[in-house]
Amino acid sequence: MQNIQFYQDAFIEHLNAFVEPKKPETLYEPINYILQLGGKRLRPVLTLMTAEIFGCDYTKALHAALSVEVFHNFSLVHDDIMDDAPLRRGKTTVHEKWDINTGILSGDAMLIMAYRLFENYEPKVFQDLAKLFSKTALEVCEGQQYDVDFETRDDVTISEYLKMIEYKTAVLVGAAMKMGAIVADASEECRNSIYDFGKNLGVAFQLQDDYLDVFGDPETFGKQVGGDIIENKKTYLYLKALEFSKAEDRLQLEHLYSVSPSNPNDKIDTVKQLFESSGSAQATKAEIEHYTNKAFSVLESIKVSEDNKEALRAFGNSLMNRNV
Ligand code: IPE
Ligand code: IPE
Ligand code: MG
Ligand code: MG
Ligand code: MG
Repeated sequence: MQNIQFYQDAFIEHLNAFVEPKKPETLYEPINYILQLGGKRLRPVLTLMTAEIFGCDYTKALHAALSVEVFHNFSLVHDDIMDDAPLRRGKTTVHEKWDINTGILSGDAMLIMAYRLFENYEPKVFQDLAKLFSKTALEVCEGQQYDVDFETRDDVTISEYLKMIEYKTAVLVGAAMKMGAIVADASEECRNSIYDFGKNLGVAFQLQDDYLDVFGDPETFGKQVGGDIIENKKTYLYLKALEFSKAEDRLQLEHLYSVSPSNPNDKIDTVKQLFESSGSAQATKAEIEHYTNKAFSVLESIKVSEDNKEALRAFGNSLMNRNV
């Protein structure tokens, strides 16, 4: 097992060879733009690491890793349209730089490109990867629809929220790892355990994403801080703040999440204060740790070396403490 930087570098080299100018430029330029905008490359690194953990050379998993990253970037292009987001990785979003129709079609093409990458594998591996991919992609759509539906609902529960983030985010992290295990021809039991590890880590990851959306540093975060508040996203922070607040604060919060002022700065400031004073910011941090530890306990039962487990724990801890 190499260090994370090694897998990241190897992946980026593979990605750069994949990216090439093609016609029509209006279709492929936005694709190449988003793919080369950077990002943490967390999912493909997990695919490569998992392949090695189960005894396979990481180079065999590069196509699967690229597929996961292309799918992830497709989902971001469409997500930014749905969330009306101006910024991605510190740069203008695709639909703002070009237009919404461009974002839709370039995104569609990326989804197909992601699928096509499985053609690089022999039939059995192809079939296993494609099956997992189709199931996961559909779940991501379901999660994304719940996320949007929740914007205009005022009775969202914590368990509904957790299901929503499991679908929109966590299943892809699980699938990224399971794909590494499939390429490595690991046993069914190992494939499923590593999927569960990734899924729990993915829930922690989305909770942290929601936390940073409010409390991140605008200089380094790369996305519009306060974007979820502007869009009335019913996050864990919001739902816990409602639960912890007295009637007066609760009513204020509910009112703020039913309006969309043209200048959202006051709304963002007030909501931020309520998230802190109610104790919901702290509760969210605790929940991030809870899901990270849940992932670690799944890891205990997997038959891989202690060194490899330690590498995965270090990765999990670094995600929990990230600020991007
Ligand atoms: C953003 O994912 C979307 C979520 C599921 C939270 P990342 O935070 O992994 O985005 P990049 O690829 O590093 O930019
Ligand atoms: C994104 O959730 C999940 C998917 C892209 C499928 P968010 O909407 O929270 O992601 P960011 O914050 O825009 O990256
Ligand atoms: Mg978004
Ligand atoms: Mg979204
Ligand atoms: Mg977010």
